[in-house]
Amino acid sequence: MDERPPGGPQVGLLDLIEAMRTLRSAAHPSQPDTGVVTDARGAALAILTPDGTFVSANRSASALLGYSSAELVGKRLDDLAPDDFRAELADELSASAAREFHSFSAVISGRTGHPTRLALHQQRLPTRQTESIVLLTLFEEPLIFEPRSADPPKLFDASERLCQRYLMMGQQKERQRLAAELHDGLGQALTLVKLMTEDALMRIRRGQVDDAANLLDATVFRVRETIGDVRQICGELRPLMLDKLGLPAALGSLCRRIEHGTETMSVVFDCDVVDKDVPEHLKADMFRVAQEALNNAVKHAEATEISLSLRRDAGGLLLTIQDNGIGYENHPLATEDAYTTGLGLIGMQHRVEMHGGAFSIESSAATGTRVCATWML
Ligand SMILES: Nc1ncnc2c1ncn2[C@@H]1O[C@H](COP(=O)(O)OP(=O)(O)OP(=O)(O)O)[C@@H](O)[C@H]1O
Ligand SMILES: [Mg+2]
Repeated sequence: MDERPPGGPQVGLLDLIEAMRTLRSAAHPSQPDTGVVTDARGAALAILTPDGTFVSANRSASALLGYSSAELVGKRLDDLAPDDFRAELADELSASAAREFHSFSAVISGRTGHPTRLALHQQRLPTRQTESIVLLTLFEEPLIFEPRSADPPKLFDASERLCQRYLMMGQQKERQRLAAELHDGLGQALTLVKLMTEDALMRIRRGQVDDAANLLDATVFRVRETIGDVRQICGELRPLMLDKLGLPAALGSLCRRIEHGTETMSVVFDCDVVDKDVPEHLKADMFRVAQEALNNAVKHAEATEISLSLRRDAGGLLLTIQDNGIGYENHPLATEDAYTTGLGLIGMQHRVEMHGGAFSIESSAATGTRVCATWML
């Protein structure tokens, strides 16, 4: 920290480092707890009193807020917030004062006067004077932005915050799955190709040309398979078929792929919509919802029949995925259970609701599971 007013709260260096470690792992629970201090370089950090007065600020925080460290000391954070957002900021700050760790978002104008929504993570910091509390505060520019609008930005309410958290968890999970796919699929396949090529080379050197030729034939086959794997991985990043074929054909192809991948299941596709009827910004979400619901039916339902339908319905688009499987009684939509089970259901719900759609699931042992998503046009 660059500035500390004489006579202000005395913070020990070890306490500061420990608070930075705790703050970082609480703010980013999914990242491994290594390199904490170096990671803190470039992070916008400040020490605030519980009422939001700056005790000190590092250079990144000063740069972010548009004031020098010296100018920030003694200033109150709510003086940097637009009038409409001060009361909410004060509420969040008082919530921080009562807890060890608190994360929230706040709209801050800084010197430029341009309101920006920032994420704030506050961690209580021990001081030498037992009676005074200070809070180590990390300012972050948000990862997820709302669509541009003429209205001033508003604070997230609790459910929006939960939604954002699940979305980020979903993104994180997707990255982990892709990393595993690249490592276990592509990495293993390329290692095998390398070994086979080296083996063939050795045989050529020994004069075993026919053996080497057979081995190289097999290698070419593996390389072809690997090219297929790469296509599939790329397709999972942004369904390639979507751009190439349009949504209805991409959904049809998804159904065929799923049917071919299982031995006992039939997948029926029914669609009365043409690609140009589907707004561009909804296509990828519709595809992902269909993909997740179909995968769930394959993984969990023990179904023999699945139907996917995309139809025009009373001025909107209705996507339905129905299976004749075993169903499930408690579906963990919008609950903390999503931490312990999967993120698929919650991810589908948020994808649909994020663009103003309605999402529902009906499930029972007698009727199987029906996932419905509707978007009004
Ligand atoms: N079609 C279905 N039939 C039966 N059970 C289902 C079906 N869809 C979901 N479930 C149940 O709901 C749970 C939560 O589903 P969800 O998609 O959120 O997670 P997951 O599929 O287990 O994991 P993830 O989707 O994150 O890979 C599943 O574990 C399963 O028990
Ligand atoms: Mg799932």
